[in-house]
Amino acid sequence: MRMVDLIEKKRDGGELSAEEIQFIINGYTDGSIPDYQMSALSMAIYFKDMTHQERADLTMAMVQSGDQIDLSPIKGIKVDKHSTGGVGDTTTLVLGPLVAALGVPVAKMSGRGLGHTGGTIDKLESVAGFHVEIENQEFIDLVNKNRIAVIGQSGNLTPADKKLYALRDVTATVDSIPLIAGSIMSKKIAAGADAIVLDVKTGAGAFMKTLEDSRALASAMVSIGNNVGRKTMAVISDMSQPLGYAIGNALEVKEAIDTLKGEGPEDLTELCLTLGSHMVVLAEKADSLEEAREKLVQTMKDGSGLQTFKTFLESQGGDSSVVDQPEKLPQAKYMIEVEAQEDGYVSEMTADEIGTAAMLLGAGRATKESEIDLAVGLMLNKKIGDRVEKGDSLVTVHSNFEDISKVKSLLLENIKLTKHPVQKPVLVYEEIT
Ligand code: URA
Ligand code: CA
Repeated sequence: MRMVDLIEKKRDGGELSAEEIQFIINGYTDGSIPDYQMSALSMAIYFKDMTHQERADLTMAMVQSGDQIDLSPIKGIKVDKHSTGGVGDTTTLVLGPLVAALGVPVAKMSGRGLGHTGGTIDKLESVAGFHVEIENQEFIDLVNKNRIAVIGQSGNLTPADKKLYALRDVTATVDSIPLIAGSIMSKKIAAGADAIVLDVKTGAGAFMKTLEDSRALASAMVSIGNNVGRKTMAVISDMSQPLGYAIGNALEVKEAIDTLKGEGPEDLTELCLTLGSHMVVLAEKADSLEEAREKLVQTMKDGSGLQTFKTFLESQGGDSSVVDQPEKLPQAKYMIEVEAQEDGYVSEMTADEIGTAAMLLGAGRATKESEIDLAVGLMLNKKIGDRVEKGDSLVTVHSNFEDISKVKSLLLENIKLTKHPVQKPVLVYEEIT
């Protein structure tokens, strides 16, 4: 087999076989296929697309390029949730304990990553003592005992994807549905999930800005998952504005605690109930979505979700008293209000720009080496559709430096007001199974 022939085949619109895809991915991982040939193939895929079978074969070839996590010693159906990113998305912190309280095993492998705020692990590390450096065996034991544990990314997972994603980044081939879908699904499958619930975001703060693109990505991932024997479904949810009110690490932990108590923001609560219901049904802990939702609401009301969160924190060294005394979480030095300059209704709150404002405060990492400030971030006081009077606070900025003029102007530029009443955006657009 020669790579040049396979590039030509794809260039001319042909379908690659499983063996050919295996040859490509193996060769690229071990270095025998050079970057320039892989670039040409990626561009051919960008223009000619891949069939369902090719997408599934590409995904599994990437899964097999490295280690695969074996979660079989954990009892029950392991359901993972994946979000395609967004701003102030606190769902994992809420969903984990909620579904675990209903007996769904949550074996979460998580990373730090780049972004407007830290990843799930960074957020959790704002709880004093909490750590994810645990051995695989301890991880398995904790999930069997408490139904939930989080471990840092370990081992050599999907090296083919790492290499290919970096190459796509510099060859203008990131925006290809088969390549994105394969990339995301290979990581989930290698991490050992039996079933997968995808939260595909749509809007300004999302990877996919339009509903049409989000739907295409969601369908592609659902089809790959089901084709390779992992039950998969997707929810398409709004990311035109940030989710909830908190954007920042410790601030989001506090927001998650409120939501576990049933006192969280309406949109965050609703999305958690939607995604959680699907997780509970896939894990066979309820027969219908309605029953699952009722059970989830019950775990908020009776405190079992919150108790599961406390036990989880303690089991990984965390000081669980923050749940009752959230003032023990890292606090920023300054709290500064950003006030509305006129009366009106909030019509836009551009999620990605608001995220950038949080990052300027130090809530996220711009490069792998940057240090995160866990205390800082934004608390939104208004969301799209809300009425505001001149002088009302739109956002409370939690900062460790006093001069926030840059952050403030970025916020004011991206929170638009109009004279006419505005509808709240739809939260959940579609569910794809
Ligand atoms: N996220 C990924 O993990 N992979 C992609 O290709 C795009 C977004
Ligand atoms: Ca939030």
